[in-house]
Amino acid sequence: MSRRDRADVAVVGAGVIGLGAAWRAARRGLEVIVLDPAPGMGASWAAAGMLAPLSEATPREAALFPLASDSLDRWPAFAADLEADAGAEVGLRHEGTLAIALDDDDRRHLADVLDRSRNFGLSSEWLAGRACRRLEPALHPSVRGGFEIPTDLQVDNRAVVAALVGVVEARASLRRETVVEFRPGGNGRAHRLLTASGEVVEADQVVLATGAAASPIAGAPDACRPPVRPVRGDIARLKGDPDEPVLSRVVRAYVEGRFVYLVPRRNGEVVVGATSEEGGWRTASRAGAVHDLLHDAIAIVPALSELELVEVIGRLRPATPDNAPVIGQTALEGVLLATGHYRHGFLLCPVTADAVVAALLGEPGPSSVTPFTPARFS
Ligand code: GLY
Repeated sequence: MSRRDRADVAVVGAGVIGLGAAWRAARRGLEVIVLDPAPGMGASWAAAGMLAPLSEATPREAALFPLASDSLDRWPAFAADLEADAGAEVGLRHEGTLAIALDDDDRRHLADVLDRSRNFGLSSEWLAGRACRRLEPALHPSVRGGFEIPTDLQVDNRAVVAALVGVVEARASLRRETVVEFRPGGNGRAHRLLTASGEVVEADQVVLATGAAASPIAGAPDACRPPVRPVRGDIARLKGDPDEPVLSRVVRAYVEGRFVYLVPRRNGEVVVGATSEEGGWRTASRAGAVHDLLHDAIAIVPALSELELVEVIGRLRPATPDNAPVIGQTALEGVLLATGHYRHGFLLCPVTADAVVAALLGEPGPSSVTPFTPARFS
């Protein structure tokens, strides 16, 4: 027999975005049910946790920068609240980023990136290779130079996900269930979500935070189907000694025209990321892509070759036609979208959660979110 449950809000998708919004909504007194067969195990599990509006700003995505900066500003309070609520640390770090170039072509490219970053307010100067090595002694002697981005932060993505799962389980209902059908309500009737095990969840409002889901939920009207495409990313995790960390800050590098980042964790681990491949829903890692990642990482920090390779994992980033997220009320009453966060799920989590909660409660939300409503794709 099917079980029916009711809440003020149903959140479909328990990645960092769905969990963050659900937690904040529950803290504001809303009854929330979150549905996901594997909470936190999608793109959020393979993220690096860089909170880097400047490092990740590309000319094509300039419109995203004010939103990303706003969310970065919200992170310290978001992390402190989450740590207090969960009773666990989430690894927020303030050392910033060092961007470096390995050869002369990479150096020319990175110098252009520095020029562009100045348009976004960065005041850093170009550093010679020796100055980069003073900051990070493990860098290869042939590193040509680079610059610092001191305002970037980072969190431990898996610690954030674990903390969010804990607080959502404590304050709301987290169902490890796949939603197979959406029966829209409206006009005073609740929306209904049917799960693979035959359960029915009713909610006055529904937040679709489904990330890069291969197939849309049956029955969901077009207005609730964001134009999301998958952009695959692979990362490798290397285990190091916490007492002798190889790096003290995030290093982003151009190596023979390719891009790689190295994210050191407090436990000595180094996350090496990430590939970026358009097209297809495959999640298994391609050998050549992982080879390039490790090759480039070791080219800039040779000591990484001695660390233990503990994991290689691929996931799909959810990207939209303008590579910016879709956040807010859809044309269907009581149905909100919070998806399409592409490379920036962790960075944009606090501002997205605040915007979703404001929309659920009928309050004014962060103005930085206004350009990213679902209406722009309708
Ligand atoms: N934000 C890092 C990545 O998507 O690879």
